[in-house]
Amino acid sequence: MSKPKVLSTRPLFPEARAILDQNFQTDYWTPPERTSRADLLKRAADKDGLVCLLTEKVNDELLDAAPKLRIAATVSVGYDNVDVPACTRHRVVATNTPGVLDDTTADFAWTLIMAIARRLLEGDAWIRSGTWPGWDLDQLVGGDVWDKTLGIIGFGRIGRGVARRAGGFNMRILYSDAVRAPAEAEQELHAQFVDRDTLFREADFISLHVPLMPETHHLICAENLEKMKRTAYLVNTSRGPVVDEAALAQALENKKIAGAALDVFENEPKVHPALLPRKDVILTPHIASASLETRTKMAVMAANNLVAFFEGRRPPNALNADALGLK
Ligand code: DGY
Repeated sequence: MSKPKVLSTRPLFPEARAILDQNFQTDYWTPPERTSRADLLKRAADKDGLVCLLTEKVNDELLDAAPKLRIAATVSVGYDNVDVPACTRHRVVATNTPGVLDDTTADFAWTLIMAIARRLLEGDAWIRSGTWPGWDLDQLVGGDVWDKTLGIIGFGRIGRGVARRAGGFNMRILYSDAVRAPAEAEQELHAQFVDRDTLFREADFISLHVPLMPETHHLICAENLEKMKRTAYLVNTSRGPVVDEAALAQALENKKIAGAALDVFENEPKVHPALLPRKDVILTPHIASASLETRTKMAVMAANNLVAFFEGRRPPNALNADALGLK
């Protein structure tokens, strides 16, 4: 029997390729530039399975163009690129990669918290410019992290990981979420459930860990930025459209908040032009989960979801297993 045909929109990592190559006839898109949408649709036309990234939309257009497709595996935990109801309508299993990137992402949120508060990049740029005149008392004074209040919006696995790390900085931890965490989690992490307005008003650092949904789109808007302390910092490692970038740029310009560190953007790879020249902003290219170990685990997880499916098992990370009645 011939092996199922799979399209992988990136070459992935050797460990994941080994799994795909052993089980499938895999067509890898290897050039460094992204496949065009037209090419993607063409290549998907005869495929039984798809491994894609968060940059590719799995929607009716693609599902119509790939009538044989049975499973689409995005190598990301966030799956706003996948229209899950459309997959269900086309009887395509959709999977993501939860769990394996939580600690790496929480580490990176902390990297940004420290870097923006202590003006790390400004210091680095100054030294490299050759204009640093030597030590002085008031140079690049930032804000303390120790003993401050951390506000976490979205208290899932990654948000809790960020809270766990805050213990080492003696921080007061506030969180808000649509659903309150169990009492044991609150106790273990010394985290206090508050309404969003309280969090906006009282936090010195706000770290975002919500999925992108209609309810979270532009959650950070002019009105909510106005509620924040003038000394507060915003950190976003979730999804770009959670922050209204134009409103953020305006708030920074008007000194409504002290700074922001963004790993994700509203229209990647574009960044709002008003943010680019600002020294009170750190911009990183969506790398919060980008350790070799973690990105490898994500790719392997996606590959294993395909293997499970084509072996007749329920893919461990299926998003629409129940809707499709998978056993
Ligand atoms: C995800 O997985 O959703 C991240 O944004 C990239 O790791």
